[in-house]
Amino acid sequence: MSVTVKNPRRDAATRNAGDQDGYVLRVKDLDVQYYTDAGIVYANNKVSFDLKPGERLGLVGESGSGKSTLALALMRMIHEPGRIAGGQMLLDGTDLTQLGEEQMRLTRGSEIGMVPQGAMNSLNPVMRVRDQLIDAMEDHNLGLTRAQMEGRVVDALRAVELDPRVGDMYPHELSGGMKQRACIAIAIIMTPKVIIADEPTSALDVVTQRQVMQTIGRIQQEMGSAVILIGHDMGLMAQFVDRLAVMYAGSLVELGSVQDSFTEPLHPYTQMLISSLPVLGKRGVFRSIPGITPLLRDLPPGCVFHDRCPKVMEVCKVKNPALLEHRPQHWAACHLYGNGNEGER
Ligand SMILES: Nc1ncnc2c1ncn2[C@@H]1O[C@H](COP(=O)(O)OP(=O)(O)O)[C@@H](O)[C@H]1O
Ligand code: SF4
Ligand SMILES: [Mg+2]
Repeated sequence: MSVTVKNPRRDAATRNAGDQDGYVLRVKDLDVQYYTDAGIVYANNKVSFDLKPGERLGLVGESGSGKSTLALALMRMIHEPGRIAGGQMLLDGTDLTQLGEEQMRLTRGSEIGMVPQGAMNSLNPVMRVRDQLIDAMEDHNLGLTRAQMEGRVVDALRAVELDPRVGDMYPHELSGGMKQRACIAIAIIMTPKVIIADEPTSALDVVTQRQVMQTIGRIQQEMGSAVILIGHDMGLMAQFVDRLAVMYAGSLVELGSVQDSFTEPLHPYTQMLISSLPVLGKRGVFRSIPGITPLLRDLPPGCVFHDRCPKVMEVCKVKNPALLEHRPQHWAACHLYGNGNEGER
């Protein structure tokens, strides 16, 4: 079945062209910090990457490395005690960090949508699925009547392969996979240009995981949206995404095509990740590697990975390597490839 959710406000052909350089999203030097009683948590540090219209980017990293923080920052949903402390997030050339609350509220969901981590637990237990979908659309100045919105609810449910009758149901009447599909329907009902899916399948069994990923992939293709998929399963990533971004302790340490990242990983952390995967087709679940991730409150000087890195050099202990393009379209933050003169922390 193939059902597209149409956006009444935009012409599909023009909406996905990206900015003048052909990007739908450009994140530049993003810093996000949480101000806790125990100190400042440096959760995202100078994070930079681009996304092309329709592209699928995978974001992997150990738990606590700052992936959800990045997702929430892109939605401008970092709340107290957190703050976007610096950088830019250009969505079709508009810097989201500069938008007023009202403009951002209109942008959220309609231009950039998210399936948050643990989404299915955040469904309202006392509200029918239909009303939760309508809630997502209301106050977005879509100019739709109630009947039109209900029509879109049916389209969105069909798009995620749910029977339209699911609209009448309450979350407790749905299986885990159905709940996750309902959450995806909420995220896509206004056909955003960028969809962020934060570990959308982690609570599901393997078969349901694949089905849900196939649904996300199909919808994303039909809508022409770009996707940022956050996850742990490297096998799923290898099958689903075009490019892989690897996060470590709040920093993006590698960014490249899936092919390059799997066959020629540049950063020692990525190299260790890839070599820790079972050999059979390099499938398997992302596992932690030996050692302890630095506390984001108390980051070491120099490279964030230096106390775990088998290739550590003197320069690594004092200078923080910038994310640089060391191979065509393949970036890494590592002194092994640079001149060691990048910015000090
Ligand atoms: N609301 C918050 N208040 C304080 N610290 C937070 C908050 N949310 C996240 N953090 C901290 O930010 C860091 C990154 O967390 P997160 O972005 O959730 O990582 P991931 O999604 O990769 O597991 C962690 O050290 C976490 O403890
Ligand atoms: S900069 Fe140095 S410590 Fe960091 S990953 Fe590269 S070689 Fe290892
Ligand atoms: Mg997370």
